[in-house]
Amino acid sequence: MPPADVPLGFLAASGVGLVGAGSAAAILAGSLVAHPTADRSIAVVHMFMLAFLTVGVLGAIHQFAPVIGGRPLRSVALARSTVGMVVAGCWLLPLAFLLSDNRLLVVGGVLVGVGVAGVVVNLSAPLSGRAGGPSVTGLRWSLGGLVVVVAMGITYAGDRQAGERWVKLSPHVVLAHAHVGLVGWLGLSYVAVAEKLWPMFLLARRRGRGPGRFAVRLVPAGVALLAVGLFFDLRLLTAAGVVVVVAGLAAHLWSLSGLLRKSKRRHDPLVGYIVSSAVFLVAGMVLGIAALYAPVAPQVRSRLVSAEVASLAGWVGLALLGHAYKIVPFITWTALRASGHASGPTGAPLVPSDLFSDKLARPGLFAAISGFALVVGGLLSGAVPAVSAGGMLLALTGIVQLANLGVGPRLAVAGSPRRRVGQRRADPVDASDAG
Ligand code: HEM
Repeated sequence: MPPADVPLGFLAASGVGLVGAGSAAAILAGSLVAHPTADRSIAVVHMFMLAFLTVGVLGAIHQFAPVIGGRPLRSVALARSTVGMVVAGCWLLPLAFLLSDNRLLVVGGVLVGVGVAGVVVNLSAPLSGRAGGPSVTGLRWSLGGLVVVVAMGITYAGDRQAGERWVKLSPHVVLAHAHVGLVGWLGLSYVAVAEKLWPMFLLARRRGRGPGRFAVRLVPAGVALLAVGLFFDLRLLTAAGVVVVVAGLAAHLWSLSGLLRKSKRRHDPLVGYIVSSAVFLVAGMVLGIAALYAPVAPQVRSRLVSAEVASLAGWVGLALLGHAYKIVPFITWTALRASGHASGPTGAPLVPSDLFSDKLARPGLFAAISGFALVVGGLLSGAVPAVSAGGMLLALTGIVQLANLGVGPRLAVAGSPRRRVGQRRADPVDASDAG
């Protein structure tokens, strides 16, 4: 595993990204509803897609890929510099959209591009090993999706700078880019890691190989067909892409339902995050198909597209927020024990669940679900106050989760003596407790 500051750097920045994205959605709700393709609205979209989701998913993958690949990252120094470049670029891009500054947009795009190149070089070590399985296969394809969405984004930015002389940024051309990013990178990364994380966090044993192996192959194949179909406005190819993507995502949901039936952790908040995330995925699929094929007026179609994009962001966003309550305490717990903090607030051996408050995690789940639901519902119905309230709830979710996971470890070890792991406590009456 990489040193804790690498995944935690990404994940903390992602939490701040959610606060920024939620606040931007609250302030610019009017533009998101009335002018979804205006630069101010595109700025909010990229705050969610880049500063929150992309940065968060990269944090989880930097922690996870070395473990499933059985090999460390190529370089810790490279990892630390990519944290800086990617986070800076993922904030600069939305700012460039907000200022409608195409030159800054290209600079931001190149910064993200260089950062992502560093990420691919670093993760290629653990992901090119012999260790296989659906998670490794899926992450190899999702990193490919990240490279493609960034390359498309930089090209579109340059095209805007050149007055759209290279390619007309018509809705279907932009949606090709959006689906590579949302499904081919963010969604597929979750589909891939879920195949390893779900059995572990849900305490559910899977018999045999499970349908996840279909999901990690069908989703990238479908996204490739869908993106080319949308980009060149080829209806048949687009339809074929939709069918294959839906088949892949159905295999992902089938994998989840099988594990939930066997889970020994039914009442854990994580189950709430995982199930609500799956509900937003299904809503996103229905809205996406309706946006493509329903006989509706252009304004209604545009609302369906906005609601689809927000719903798919809810799918990955809720999954990220939920799994962060497992991944972050595990990383901090490992780091605290390594630095001599072996006992928790009660004097008993320190455990990961000592490092955050469950009392904050549960209302956090409610705030996150209501936030995404209000944004999706508001975009679909044209209700600006709903989108604004949803944005505020998501910003609040970010603040609560940052505080809970950031301050929790300090509170847990405050006052507890440092000692080497396995060393008995010094106080005279401890023999039986230590057991
Ligand atoms: C996870 C990655 C990404 C996702 C999911 C994503 C998603 C989107 C979406 C949904 C739109 C349409 C917005 C709207 O019309 O309201 C869009 C447009 C655009 N994106 Fe991205 N994006 C991503 C990364 C990037 C990157 C890295 C760049 C780099 C420069 C970029 C540049 C653009 C440009 C230039 C447009 C077109 C704006 C226009 O219509 O003039 N995107 N993206």
